[in-house]
Order: sequence, then C-alpha cells, then structure tokens
Amino acid sequence: MNRFEGKVALITGGARGQGRCHAENLAREGADIVICDICQQIDSVPYKLADKDDLIKTKKIVEAQGRNCLAVQADVRNFQQMQELANTAVSECGKIDILVSNAGIASASLLSEMSEQMWRDMIDTDLTGGFNIIRAVLPHMIQRQYGRIAVIASQLGLTGGKTQGHYAAAKHGLIGMVETVAIENAENGITINAICPTTVDTAMVHNDSLYKAFGAEPPTYENALKAFPKPNAIPVPWIEPQEVSNLLMFLVSDEARYITGADYRIDAGSLASAVSKRFSM
Ligand SMILES: NC(=O)c1ccc[n+]([C@@H]2O[C@H](COP(=O)([O-])OP(=O)(O)OC[C@H]3O[C@@H](n4cnc5c(N)ncnc54)[C@H](O)[C@@H]3O)[C@@H](O)[C@H]2O)c1
Repeated sequence: MNRFEGKVALITGGARGQGRCHAENLAREGADIVICDICQQIDSVPYKLADKDDLIKTKKIVEAQGRNCLAVQADVRNFQQMQELANTAVSECGKIDILVSNAGIASASLLSEMSEQMWRDMIDTDLTGGFNIIRAVLPHMIQRQYGRIAVIASQLGLTGGKTQGHYAAAKHGLIGMVETVAIENAENGITINAICPTTVDTAMVHNDSLYKAFGAEPPTYENALKAFPKPNAIPVPWIEPQEVSNLLMFLVSDEARYITGADYRIDAGSLASAVSKRFSM
C-alpha cells in the first residue's frame, strides 16, 4: 500500500522506539518525515533517553525508504522550539499533513513519596509536550483545512497504576485534550485520536525501575518475562512497536476520516480483564 504518497509526517520522540517505527512505516508508504528528539537526559528519568546517534539512525532508516527526513534536536517541553520545528517543517517540506505526538518519559514512585521534580518532569514532557506540539502545528493544518493527528497516550490514560500517578495524570490529560481538539477542529478537516497501548517492547521499560514497578523482583529480564504478562488477557509480556504502527497508520490515513476524538486501546485485553483479575475470577 502507498497510503501516504505525497504526505509529510512530523513525529516527536522519533529517535528510537515507537517513534522510529512510525517513521519507518509512514516512509515505506510514501511520506516524507520530520522527526525531533530531546537527545539529552532528564534527571528524574531512570534510564537513558535517546542520543544524537539514535536520531541520525532514524533519519538513515527513512532515507533508505527513498523518502526525505528532516531530523532536529528539540525538546517538546519548550514551546518555542516546537514552533520553530513546525515552521521549519513547513518551510522545508511545504506542509504538515500528519502529526504524531509520541515523545514521552517514564519513571516510578508511590505518589506519597514522589519528588516534586519527578511530577513536574512528567507533566512537562508527557502532557505539556503534547500541548506544545499540537498548538504549534494546528494553525498550519487549519490554514490548509487538512490534518491527521495521533497522540500516543497509554492504557494508563484510562486507568490508574501503582507508582504511576504522574504518568496516569499526564496520559488522562492527553485524552481530554484530544477530545477537545477533535471537537474544535471537526469542521477544519482535521482528525485527532489517542492510542492507548499496553507495555511496548522499547528502552522505556527495560530498566530496573520499570521492572520493579511491574513486580519483577529481582529486576532481571527473565523475571520481567514472567511479571509483565500478568495485567494482559492475551498472555504476552509486551507488544512490539510495529503493532502500534499498524493501528496508527490506519488512524492517520484517509480511510479513518470519520474517526476523531476517539481513544483506541491496543492493550492485549488488559483493561477488559482488570476487574476480573482484581477479584481473581
Ligand atoms: N513502552 C511502553 O511500554 C509504552 C506503553 C504505552 C505508551 N507508551 C508511550 O509511547 C511513547 C513512545 O515511547 P517508547 O516506548 O517508544 O519509549 P522510548 O523511550 O524508546 O521513546 C521515547 C522517545 O521520546 C524522547 N523524548 C523524551 N522526552 C523528550 C522531550 N522532552 N522532547 C523530545 N523528545 C523526548 C526520548 O529521547 C525517546 O527517543 C511515549 O509517549 C510513551 O509514554 C509507551
């Protein structure tokens, strides 16, 4: 299929993980790509964020599909940088058809013990970061009366999770924003939807802090393989980024033109089975 021939897609957090996978898939189906990534560390994040080599690797992967790729080091927490990114994308690529608001961080703490800094870093990145890039891109889309926006939320955008109060707050907030932007822009030819995955097999979860949050004790890969399937109805520890890309590509395609303001779970049945698991049914 070549669903995105002639389209331009901007993806935040595109240096690796799900963002890279979305870039590769959209490019394979014809889109030129703009990616940004912070390429430096945020202190409260207990694993290494992407670096410039990761960003360049994604660019090369996109170019290997025969598409153009503009790769920019930029921080979604900074509104001015997001505006510059959107303006550069429009001046160099002509337009922005598709926005994937994907950049995010993870960390873990009981709320009663959470540092103010950990809370702030999470809200600034996972919630305000989404606002910043959507706010920066929307005027361009409104001007052209066309746009497709996908926001990577989480199953924790729909429920709570132990040690995840800050992350759940940010992801719930994204879903409220998605519904609002959908209503406000339904007559502008713009759709926006949220994607709510279960655990995805990326660097975000493969670290001691997240292993412990999922009950892998001691926090080894082998114990994670046993602990991570527990919330899911389909007994897998995690899903692959490609699974999220498959859903995302449908939602940002013109086949999905009447889908807006929705949140799509790709959660291996974890939310459907949550109540019965709590009661050991
Ligand atoms: N991995 C999971 O289990 C999982 C599950 C549900 C939702 N998500 C969400 O999926 C999205 C992608 O995460 P991933 O799994 O690919 O993890 P990842 O850590 O591999 O990718 C996230 C990317 O975002 C970048 N980033 C972080 N803060 C940034 C900032 N301030 N500005 C710009 N870039 C920044 C990172 O450097 C990294 O490249 C995130 O929003 C995450 O919350 C992940």
